Amino acid sequence: MKILVIQGPNLNRLGKRTEFHYGAMTLEALNGVIRDYGDTIGFETDFLQSNHEGQLIDWIHESEKKYDAVLINPGAFTHYSYAIRDAIESVDIPFVEVHLSNIYERETFRHVSVIAPVCRKQVYGMKEKSYFDALDYLKTLL
Ligand code: DQA
Repeated sequence: MKILVIQGPNLNRLGKRTEFHYGAMTLEALNGVIRDYGDTIGFETDFLQSNHEGQLIDWIHESEKKYDAVLINPGAFTHYSYAIRDAIESVDIPFVEVHLSNIYERETFRHVSVIAPVCRKQVYGMKEKSYFDALDYLKTLL
């Protein structure tokens, strides 16, 4: 099983962003522990990151050719990108929405996800463990 992990805007700044919300790991370190966790449960993982909405949309469209499922952390696009929402809806493999922080205990604008209705599941608030949980969920689904 091949899983694509798409990291959205500002996640390349992990390690410099607020530790309370995001932890201390760099994106490279985070992707490393996700890869290791995936290996232990029998998933092959690939990783992409972009700060650009159009690039994320192109990757979402292409994902169904090569992958069985996608984990996506859309960053702040979560809260307002109808274009990313529509891209996910147009693709025929399962998507799981993942957040490091607890978006429901932060500013009210983060309480809304326009992405959630087109994803199979939303996982948040457990830092890197959010991604592990999302992989565990896919293990039961696929
Ligand atoms: C985030 C939460 C978003 O609200 C924020 O804009 C991010 C990261 C998270 O992983 O907790 O950039 O998606």
